[in-house]
Amino acid sequence: MGVDEPVGDAPVDRFDLAARPDVSPPPAAATAAAAVLRLEPEGDDLPARVAQAEALAAGADTLDALAAAQESFDGIELKKGARNFCFADGNPAARLLILGEAPGDEEDRQGRPFVGRAGLLLDRMFDAIGLSRRAVDAEKALYITNVLTWRPPGNRDPQPDEIAMSLPFVRRHIELAAPDLVVLMGNIACDAGLGRRGILRLRGNWTTAFDRPALPMTHPAYLLRNPPAKREAWADLLSLSARLEGQGGR
Ligand code: URA
Repeated sequence: MGVDEPVGDAPVDRFDLAARPDVSPPPAAATAAAAVLRLEPEGDDLPARVAQAEALAAGADTLDALAAAQESFDGIELKKGARNFCFADGNPAARLLILGEAPGDEEDRQGRPFVGRAGLLLDRMFDAIGLSRRAVDAEKALYITNVLTWRPPGNRDPQPDEIAMSLPFVRRHIELAAPDLVVLMGNIACDAGLGRRGILRLRGNWTTAFDRPALPMTHPAYLLRNPPAKREAWADLLSLSARLEGQGGR
């Protein structure tokens, strides 16, 4: 029947919710962009939806405005089934930005990226090179986001149309956060940043994504399933650390 897990005591009909008039004030940036553009998602017209995402993203001049604009975007169907919008975590001033894949169950519950089992491992990995999402000092901080901000049902892989509609927001997100370096965490992030997959060949090789130096790394969820691969992940962390030191602070 398509039901893969229980998520609450009482059913929520999100299609009905979407149909009711929204009486809460919409975010200012989203309202301004939508008013100028007068774009509505048009049926299955992916190019129109991507164009709407691009316009909303381009209209956001701060991370808060971008979060509001992205949350307001109705073109992506995943929004109807997710519990929470999952934009980012950590310190936006960090020199290093980690781009992951999509929220999982725990991320969907909390509305923050990488807070489940893979996230715990991610925290331990970066802690080992002195970086933390809780650090106030930009030199020691991490900023974390995902290609998708809404959880795909049953943790399935993000679909090409979902990636296409999310990309304008991801590009603008990275532009506004302006990190020195980007980590492409796993295949979906490589797809979004490089237009190709094959993480086991790409990992450890510095490249350029989103107009910045970027390092593809194996995803912590993969490392949980394949502990021997942690050796290579450690080499990648050392490469990151050396690059951050070599480039010096801001
Ligand atoms: N995996 C990801 O790529 N991102 C998350 O936020 C959680 C798990």
